[in-house]
Amino acid sequence: MADKTLEHIAIIMDGNGRWAKKQGLVRNAGHKKGAQTLLEIAKAAKNTGVKYLTVYAFSTENWKRSDEEISGLMNLLREYLDKNFEDLKKNDIRIIFIGEKYMLDADIVAKMDALEQETRKNKGMTLQVALSYGSRQEIVHAAKKAAELVAKGDIMPEDINENMFSKLLYTSDIPDPDLVIRTSGEQRISNYLLWQIAYSELFFTNTLWPDFTEKELINIVENFKTRERRYGKA
Ligand code: FPP
Repeated sequence: MADKTLEHIAIIMDGNGRWAKKQGLVRNAGHKKGAQTLLEIAKAAKNTGVKYLTVYAFSTENWKRSDEEISGLMNLLREYLDKNFEDLKKNDIRIIFIGEKYMLDADIVAKMDALEQETRKNKGMTLQVALSYGSRQEIVHAAKKAAELVAKGDIMPEDINENMFSKLLYTSDIPDPDLVIRTSGEQRISNYLLWQIAYSELFFTNTLWPDFTEKELINIVENFKTRERRYGKA
């Protein structure tokens, strides 16, 4: 069982491209392997007892990649939505998506909406998939919503506080991550959950995402339990 303070893990699944290159394969072969890893790690995370897993599948900045890579990733997503998520559904996992949905093709959005609907009562774990997601965009979006509420007279400016602002983010009902893991040796946050990770523990591993295993996840969870979280207190 996970420590009671470890309720939510967020992962930046980085290194698919480098993994593919090392194997002499095209980048999209790395994403395909990475997608399989996600399936295994989602089940492994549920087994540790965490209640929420958030993964960064595609950032708003990723739209700048080559047309070939983007269409490969979108086709992978279509395939994933049709097949692999079935497996997660069977595992009592609720699936939700955060991000700029309007940037995605309509058929993909329809599949995402259907999956959210079908899994909404699942209780085992919530898998939150960040797709076409950027944290600054999310914060600006929330600020606009707050401004609209003030303009309509629904709230006063002084009603805006951290708690109500959090509720305007895409992640509104999800507790903040306790632990953030980034694979592939890069040590940065890349516009991921900037508001939500204010007090999260950060963990960086050199493992490339397609090589990430349940065993390594369990080791990181054990390491997390040895850390003392003070939230700014002495
Ligand atoms: C980062 O590796 C990974 C991504 C941009 C995509 C992550 C997607 C998956 C793990 C597949 C699962 C998602 C879907 C859509 C079903 P990178 O390409 O930046 O690797 P590099 O830094 O080595 O080039």
